[in-house]
Amino acid sequence: MSSPLLAVSGLAKGYHRGGKAIAAVDNVSFAIGPGETLALAGPSGSGKSTIARLVLRLVEPDAGRIAFEGDDFLALNGAALRARRARLQMVFQDPLAAFNPRATVARVLNDPLRIHGIASRAERPRRIVALLERVGLSPNLASRAIHEISGGQRQRVAIARAIATKPSLIVLDEAVSALDVSVRGDILKLLLDLQTKERIAYLFISHDLGVVRAIAHRVVILDAGRITESGDARAVINAPQSAIGRELVAATPKLHRTTAP
Ligand SMILES: Nc1ncnc2c1ncn2[C@@H]1O[C@H](COP(=O)(O)OP(=O)(O)O)[C@@H](O)[C@H]1O
Ligand SMILES: [Mg+2]
Repeated sequence: MSSPLLAVSGLAKGYHRGGKAIAAVDNVSFAIGPGETLALAGPSGSGKSTIARLVLRLVEPDAGRIAFEGDDFLALNGAALRARRARLQMVFQDPLAAFNPRATVARVLNDPLRIHGIASRAERPRRIVALLERVGLSPNLASRAIHEISGGQRQRVAIARAIATKPSLIVLDEAVSALDVSVRGDILKLLLDLQTKERIAYLFISHDLGVVRAIAHRVVILDAGRITESGDARAVINAPQSAIGRELVAATPKLHRTTAP
């Protein structure tokens, strides 16, 4: 990988709980190339979401470096940080928690277009329709409230909001974990399609290796905040070398998806 889109090195974050120190993330390094999907997998509590929050600068690391689009991301602030944030978007597990449930779909999609100055007020309704169509939703949904639509539709709205600012990287933290199996497959297909057409990279976090195998090019397996193994997603899942890797494979009953990412 000559020039990675995202490169994190020596990332560390600790917490204190009940007088005990927890190394949530401990000396983690990885890189993602343009248009690539890197999965972070690992059991609950292994540090996946903390890494997502560090990469998004929702929390500051104790140590380590994050380079994004060639810049020292941790050194950016003010207008430069806001501009770069448009290029780094996120989709979480529960869009009901991420959005105001009473907001309309149009409102949720209008915000990034307005805040990042992407489209004029007059132009925004048309852009919202285009975004809805881009994620396979009917423009009629624009006037519906977030709480009125299905979980799968909501996750499509979350993806539409993420792509509204033309990001180069989207961090997805258990983004399909709460969905029914068939809806999950549809959302994975949408993500693959967007990646092919728009060359968006994904940092795709999941505890489910079946999902990882369906979408990721490479995988990093975490255990207690540390990387235990990493490599080509299929190679690692077909023949895990670490004890945690083998446990995760054993816990995934149906590793039957063969769709090439
Ligand atoms: N804000 C926090 N305060 C205290 N401990 C935390 C906090 N966030 C995460 N942790 C701890 O850090 C570890 C990693 O958590 P997390 O990154 O959420 O793991 P995962 O997403 O893999 O389940 C866990 O032991 C968790 O309890
Ligand atoms: Mg998590």
